[in-house]
Amino acid sequence: MLEKVSFSDKLSKNCSLVAGVHADGSLSRNAKKIDESFEGIISKNLGKLKFDGKFLKTCSFISCSNDYNHIIIVGLGEPNKEFSKLELEKLGATIYSAAEKLDSNVFIAIDAEDLRFPCACASSFIGFGALLRSWNFDKYKTKKNEKPKLKTLSILTQDVKTSEERFDELRKIADGAFLTRLVVSEPANVIYPESLAKIAKDELAPLGVEVEILDEADMKKLGMNSLLAVGQGSENRPRMAVLRWNGGDKSQKPIAFVGKGVTFDSGGISLKPENNMNEMIRDMAGSGAVLGLFKAVALNKLPVNVVGIMAMVENMPSGSAQRPGDIVKSMSGQTIEVLSTDAEGRMVLADAIWYAQDRFDPEAIIDLATLTGAMAVALGHEFAGLFSNCDKLAEQISKSGDATGEKAWRMPMTDHFEKGIDSDVADMQNIGRPNVRGGSITAAHFLRRFTNGKRWAHLDIAAVECVTFDDLFVCGKGTTGYGVHLLYDFLRENYAKGS
Ligand code: BES
Ligand code: MN
Ligand code: ZN
Repeated sequence: MLEKVSFSDKLSKNCSLVAGVHADGSLSRNAKKIDESFEGIISKNLGKLKFDGKFLKTCSFISCSNDYNHIIIVGLGEPNKEFSKLELEKLGATIYSAAEKLDSNVFIAIDAEDLRFPCACASSFIGFGALLRSWNFDKYKTKKNEKPKLKTLSILTQDVKTSEERFDELRKIADGAFLTRLVVSEPANVIYPESLAKIAKDELAPLGVEVEILDEADMKKLGMNSLLAVGQGSENRPRMAVLRWNGGDKSQKPIAFVGKGVTFDSGGISLKPENNMNEMIRDMAGSGAVLGLFKAVALNKLPVNVVGIMAMVENMPSGSAQRPGDIVKSMSGQTIEVLSTDAEGRMVLADAIWYAQDRFDPEAIIDLATLTGAMAVALGHEFAGLFSNCDKLAEQISKSGDATGEKAWRMPMTDHFEKGIDSDVADMQNIGRPNVRGGSITAAHFLRRFTNGKRWAHLDIAAVECVTFDDLFVCGKGTTGYGVHLLYDFLRENYAKGS
């Protein structure tokens, strides 16, 4: 991972250099200046390479000067192209990928003017993209010889102070997202309810977040029989972490974030097939996102009141596991017929959402869950599914999704699906009737029955918490940390004091 990102209004030397080229073959303003000062250091080689300058294309060559090691060229697209923040992040991420194996120190000689960005802080977003890209999960690799070389990145800017200030906030968002990526990547023999609860406490309490851990006995007293039923087959007993950050006015009702935290989902007695069952170590990505979000919020001391619920259980088959056909009474008093023990996420969230609204009377509840495999069928890996009973809330979330690149697509909720979860023997069943398809939607309808009419949005992140192709720019193969940047932006734009 990058050790340092810094900003400078002067060129550095004795490192490798990144310069921009437009799609018409012209050098960017800064690239031209450098080319002139260093005897055609760029143009001499570039001509031979037939580089077309398309946005985010890169090439590199060994410099012919003693002042620089490698020259890395990145395409900036059409000369008058205006860049968005997200494109700057992609640019930074692309530069990181092109440079990581080449050198330990790299200087990016591209500034806001080259990019037609209205603020000198363009460099902060480039740095943010590079930093996000540089994270990887290699702690269990005992042979470190393939590690990237790149350690420090310095970026040109006309205003060092503004760039540093903006980057400081972004770096703290990245720190939150890295915590999410880490706990989601960790296997289930390391991350289970008790250990994840401990990480929440150890990471967040020192930052001023109030962290309360409920154990099984506490949850039993509260009547969380639906959540507890999921965990009853596992040696690793359930926990719930209740997080509170009170950065806003006393009068401001909190926003509640609820995360599915199934630390391993074997399916239970409705056992999953062995193909890719290992992926279910990441079935706690919802709780992981809540954890990382609180880290980002607390590090930045965001002036908002937020509550976080990490609902953590392990879903295992055993002699004490729940059975298909069992009927449980949830904390809300509503009864659930368990038709599949693999539809466990909604049973966990049922009690967690009810608890959040019952105890905290929040302004809105947003849950995140790797809830249904059907999400990948419906939307692929580009968008999370967004379900909500409030148009304004849904719009705010979509907007933050577009701004941060952690995109969410609104899904329908209609009576048709409501009937699909009515049970013959209890208040509801935990899977949709066979003639009612749309498994992600019936799951959302199930959750809505536990919101008590409060404003609510549900993000089904089953298909976006991890990438298997290398096409996300700000994240290589592996866990994405989806949700942290999205919900940080959502809070900052809509609820932070003064916004
Ligand atoms: N955790 C899974 C959903 C999932 C599947 C997430 C694949 C990521 C990748 C969830 O608990 C589950 O098993 N859902 C079932 C629901 C079904 C039994 C109604 C599913 O999607 O098959
Ligand atoms: Mn399941
Ligand atoms: Zn699950």
